[in-house]
Amino acid sequence: MIIIAVTAEGADEPRVAVSPETVKKLTGLGATVRVESGAGLRARFSDDALKAAGAEIASSAAAAVSGADVLLKVRRPSVDELRGLKPGAVVAASLDPYDRAGLDPLAGTNASLFSMELMPRTTRAQSMDVLSSQANLAGYKAVVDAASLFGQALPMMMTPAGTVPAAKVFIMGVGVAGLQAIATARRLGAIVSATDVRPATKEQVASLGAKFVAVEDDEFKEAQTAAGYAKPMSAEYQAKQAELIATHIKTQDIVITTALIPGRPAPRLITRAMVESMKPGAVIVDLAAERGGNCEATVPGQTVEVSDVKIVGPLNLAGTVAVNASSLYAKNLYAFLELFFDKKDKSFRIDWDDDLVKGTLVARDGKIVHPSLVPQSA
Ligand code: NAI
Repeated sequence: MIIIAVTAEGADEPRVAVSPETVKKLTGLGATVRVESGAGLRARFSDDALKAAGAEIASSAAAAVSGADVLLKVRRPSVDELRGLKPGAVVAASLDPYDRAGLDPLAGTNASLFSMELMPRTTRAQSMDVLSSQANLAGYKAVVDAASLFGQALPMMMTPAGTVPAAKVFIMGVGVAGLQAIATARRLGAIVSATDVRPATKEQVASLGAKFVAVEDDEFKEAQTAAGYAKPMSAEYQAKQAELIATHIKTQDIVITTALIPGRPAPRLITRAMVESMKPGAVIVDLAAERGGNCEATVPGQTVEVSDVKIVGPLNLAGTVAVNASSLYAKNLYAFLELFFDKKDKSFRIDWDDDLVKGTLVARDGKIVHPSLVPQSA
């Protein structure tokens, strides 16, 4: 019988890697699910609810992992947690693999480490895509937080006492988070505009009822990589983009920035001078704060004020909706683990040649193996 362990996350991570729903599904595949007592509390999954779904509740993290074949986590586990697992056990988590100082000691335990952030963005892997499930919630929450900090109403209201104007919301970066931010701001009645460097986003923005604002030159037409991500833009493009943004941003009440380029620091899109040109009371929520921020004035993890403009640099917005974020994250992990179970004989077998296994496996048998982490021979 395969034992799947889930332990509590650290103090700054309210999410958990399992839900009553996925306990039920995993036990249905023939596995035993062992959860550290209290691990689900901040996501409102009580021990009783997890137990009712079929989980065993362990009194400590060490008891949960002892002899387990699989460990599921949201964040990178500690080396100590891995020591109790069976030799060569599977660990699936958001491992932050490019932080080698954190990753290498885990690899030294001989566990098979799967980094969920590296899941290929393919149709087959959509249900396992933790970046999308969490970014979608972050995009929603960024708008709600901004609306709450903004000391004015968002929708236009015509009342006997007069008309309240609609607020103007500008979304920078139209990936998964940006699209949900547009949809949320529209639902709240704001006048929404959005920008991106990938041409495919133009239609998506329009279909959500927002206005597309971008420098649409020849470089823009080539800005999307085969993998669907943005390329770093040239200095010339950046200068033209900055000029356009500088004019547009002056009239905006709320700006949500989400622009990222894989493996690089976040592009700087809003300068301090642009912030100073904004209307008093305006709010910027910088979802790229974790990667340095899209706004020059962002302080990661803090809310700062520059000439009466609030700039919020959240580090874990998905964690602020931990119930939903955990449910979706746990489903992503379930969809991934399901690949390893043979439904007929209930055996657990990893197909090391599967694209999704190769795409996410960062270490095996004590060695770092992911192509993006080891130098490739020509
Ligand atoms: P991301 O988090 O890497 O970046 C966010 C957005 O910032 C992107 O739209 C990017 O084009 C934009 N950006 C980068 N530099 C910029 C700049 N200088 N100015 C303005 N915007 C800039 O993106 P995310 O959300 O991870 O999505 C990446 C791609 O993957 C998208 O094409 C998305 O549609 C696709 N995708 C595909 C999936 C699938 O097929 N299974 C699942 C999820 C996403």
